[in-house]
Amino acid sequence: MKMRRTLLVLSSLSFGMILTACNSCVDQHNPRPDQAKFKQEETFAKAEQTLTPEGTIPVPVAVATGGAPRSLGQEKFELFCAACHGVNGKANGPGVAGLNPMPRNFTDVAWQGKVDDAHIHKIIKEGGASVGLSATMPAWGSALNDAEIDDVVKWVRQFKGK
Ligand code: HEC
Repeated sequence: MKMRRTLLVLSSLSFGMILTACNSCVDQHNPRPDQAKFKQEETFAKAEQTLTPEGTIPVPVAVATGGAPRSLGQEKFELFCAACHGVNGKANGPGVAGLNPMPRNFTDVAWQGKVDDAHIHKIIKEGGASVGLSATMPAWGSALNDAEIDDVVKWVRQFKGK
């Protein structure tokens, strides 16, 4: 009787050990997909607990920048256009050195008033040469479809007067 009990205890103990070993094995070789997210949330939670050097509670970046998620137009603009036209639309991107003519400065109110959306759509889709401007302005018709170009046009428009 006593023997049996010992066996029972022993076998449940080893069963527990096998389970633990299995778990860590699985974790190591097949990490749970949400593990990265947990880690990220942990980092954010920690970051928020640290006060700024001025002793104030830090404002998360998303809130500090208005919290608006980037629109598709903004995303594509920053991907394809900002190198020349600048993230801020002011034609001061890292790719403008030596360009002649310079890319258009989209904050220019006079230019914004002079062109319609169809013109901006066309130059984006077919390039500068298609509207009699410099071919240094590339054609994006193979990278962007019409709907995406419309979104980029909206993003170009919102620079007006900034
Ligand atoms: C390699 C640099 C470069 C990139 C990248 C670039 N552009 Fe341009 N862009 C130019 C240059 C240079 C001009 C000026 C052409 C001229 O005035 O003859 C221009 C002009 C323009 C104009 C003004 C047209 C006008 O009537 O004056 C628009 C709008 C424009 N680009 C939109 C875009 C968009 C949107 C993208 C991204 C999809 C983009 N560009 C990417 C160089 C670039």
